[in-house]
Amino acid sequence: MAIIASRADLFPENIADVKRAGHRLQSIDAIARADLRSTEALICLLSDRIDAAVLHRAPQLRVVANVAVGYENIDVDAATERGIHVTNTPDVLTESTADHTLALLLAAARRIVEADTAVREGRFPTWGLQQALSGIDVHGKTLGIVGMGRIGAAVARRARHGFGMSILYHARAPKPDVENGLDARYMSLEQLLASSDFVSLHVPFTPETHHLFDALAFERMKSSAILINVARGAVVDEAALAQALQTGQIAGAGLDVYEDEPNVHPELLKLKKHVVLAPHLGSATEETRRAMADLAIRNVLAVLAGKPPLTPVPPPSTHEQPKM
Ligand code: DGY
Repeated sequence: MAIIASRADLFPENIADVKRAGHRLQSIDAIARADLRSTEALICLLSDRIDAAVLHRAPQLRVVANVAVGYENIDVDAATERGIHVTNTPDVLTESTADHTLALLLAAARRIVEADTAVREGRFPTWGLQQALSGIDVHGKTLGIVGMGRIGAAVARRARHGFGMSILYHARAPKPDVENGLDARYMSLEQLLASSDFVSLHVPFTPETHHLFDALAFERMKSSAILINVARGAVVDEAALAQALQTGQIAGAGLDVYEDEPNVHPELLKLKKHVVLAPHLGSATEETRRAMADLAIRNVLAVLAGKPPLTPVPPPSTHEQPKM
């Protein structure tokens, strides 16, 4: 019997799986306050920092299972040095995160949140050709995707086949397999920014992507462009984004992630026109959250049974940057 400490609010079926395997589940509300001396498996969230000091407090630890695809919150090198497996939850959240990306893109372009507020506040606008709540067309426009991993490609498929959009992308290297069927064109970030009507971010957070979108990037974008970020908040310099929106350097933003969650830059909160702010909901559907929990549990149970984890990080045979 092993002790599995979980920061995630697991579903009844996960608890049943753990019981069936003969292990004990311990719910913890904060890593800092938890007694990890007997913990053999730790299920954690993106908001939990799992560094060498935490690992040091858990001498029995065999696996850290992050309930997220990204894992920048975990010191993977420190874990590997101690022979501790680290796992994430790739693939199972790709499609719902891509759905959410399109939801934000459409909501920002068509001003859905502003419209909803107007109706609820009794400001139902009269029908007019020059409608106060007129939006920006999505169909047939150009979408620039920054980071063409699993989620970027799922967004590109929806945009291309659902909305007839032209797809441009920037990634560490061209991806001919993704280009096929999408007519997607690889280009430099600078070219992409100058040519896209919508720019959607799908890169992991790394030292290289920190503030990749800064004042200069916004200067390079079209003044009619809308930025969508469902990747990581710190890929965008939020103060520079707020300024670019205030000065009309770009037209709008659909954001799901922030530099200092749960805090949002106060200037962003003031902006309404073509600006939609969601609270990190990319993978938040009933089905996907269950699939993420299930995968995290299966990783833990595999390691505790002496088997290799299903979705280790970094993935076997690669020393790649994390993929979204
Ligand atoms: C992820 O999986 O990395 C998401 O951002 C967590 O919701």
